Amino acid sequence: MTDAPRRLWGGRFASGPADALAQLSVSVQFDWRLAPYDLLGSKAHARVLHRAGLLDDDELTRMLDALDGLAADVSSGAFRPTADDEDVHTALERGLLERLGALGGKLRAGRSRNDQVATDLRLYLRDAVRQLVARIAELETALVSLAERNADVPAPGMTHLQHAQPVLFAHQLLAHVHPLTRDVDRLRDWDARTAWSPLGAGALAGSSLPLDPEATARELGFRGAIPNSIDAVSDRDFVAEFLFVAALLGVHLSRLGEEVCLWATSEFSWVRLDDAFSTGSSIMPQKKNPDIAELARGKAGRLIGHVTGVLAMLKGLPLAYDRDMQEDKEPVFDAVEQLLLVLPALAGMVSTLQVNSERLEATTPTGHALATDVAEWLVRRGVPFRDAHEISGSLVQLCDTRGIELWQLEDADFTAVDARLDPSVRSVLSVRGALEARSAVGGTAPSRVAEQLAALAETATEHAAWATRD
Ligand code: ARG
Repeated sequence: MTDAPRRLWGGRFASGPADALAQLSVSVQFDWRLAPYDLLGSKAHARVLHRAGLLDDDELTRMLDALDGLAADVSSGAFRPTADDEDVHTALERGLLERLGALGGKLRAGRSRNDQVATDLRLYLRDAVRQLVARIAELETALVSLAERNADVPAPGMTHLQHAQPVLFAHQLLAHVHPLTRDVDRLRDWDARTAWSPLGAGALAGSSLPLDPEATARELGFRGAIPNSIDAVSDRDFVAEFLFVAALLGVHLSRLGEEVCLWATSEFSWVRLDDAFSTGSSIMPQKKNPDIAELARGKAGRLIGHVTGVLAMLKGLPLAYDRDMQEDKEPVFDAVEQLLLVLPALAGMVSTLQVNSERLEATTPTGHALATDVAEWLVRRGVPFRDAHEISGSLVQLCDTRGIELWQLEDADFTAVDARLDPSVRSVLSVRGALEARSAVGGTAPSRVAEQLAALAETATEHAAWATRD
């Protein structure tokens, strides 16, 4: 049996917990990350106890000093949890008792680990979300700058990973920025919904002591107190929702990673990775591997696992608190920490990518990528698209039999396929023409892409600013 005198709940038990129970239930090895937030909550709670007349002036001063001292020691590492501390709350109460003696035991009045942990996790995640948004903004900026530096470079636009129609390479890069901006929007929406405080809910029913949940909420930067104490301690929507956004962000980073892996192959050769952002092989001296892009792709798997795992953990839980909910933390910490590793690495990789514009220029029109332009040229001359599609398809077939591209056909070849194909069709057999022509909103025309560039550069700056605002 473990002798655990620091337990927060020993009174009615004749014996201590079995080792197997102690080992199963201990969470301090991961929830120690919540320590700074737990201490902020404790300071707010101490002030409320003081206003309720449950701590006198001198006690409040000593309590706040001790909490500040403990916070400094936690951050310097001078105060650490021990093997006997069940969780972060237990460890910090021990720290307070070591500093204040019996006075330290007054802080627990009116508070339970149930409202405490829910509050801590919200505070932690609201902070983490700001760090994530700052890193996403850096990646957005890196992609926008790469697009700006290559504003005139065309690329083979693809569907089914086959040459489809010419696009600007910048258009393709910016297509990776838009999903990130939506992720930031989602995180900001999430933040507004999560800005409500559970503190004051106690175990589940509120407190008979004259506390002031609205005051603690405001002190902790929340918009107010959660209006139902049972919901306050049971709700983990903010965890599931955050994990969904993290998983979707992970999927977006994975799709970007996959494209960079392709672009860096010798078959594509669209980009070269900078030495500092690629790795070598232990056996093949020539290798330059896109490990950052691959890890970005790989991490998406565990992020998807985290949201799935937490939803499954929650689905059958009766209200209010159940210990199952302790399982919410590791996925959250892991999602935050993995994303904080991946995002800066991707931003560095993107900002240092060398774009092979000659190769992009040369391969953009290949694979008969201008066939749609021929069909649309015919449509402008009154040919029904159904027929125009067939005619252009016949040209492609002819090219394939000769192993040439559309612009290499002779004038006579065009008219032989269809009399309506006079040689002026050559006017649309250019990449520039194909790009310029797609000038409606959302199109790949250089003028439209320039508009996108300007708008997204501004959005990224605004995202960075939000991340540092209180
Ligand atoms: N470590 C616990 C958790 O993370 C803290 C809350 C414990 N509450 C309780 N009633 N045992 O969920």
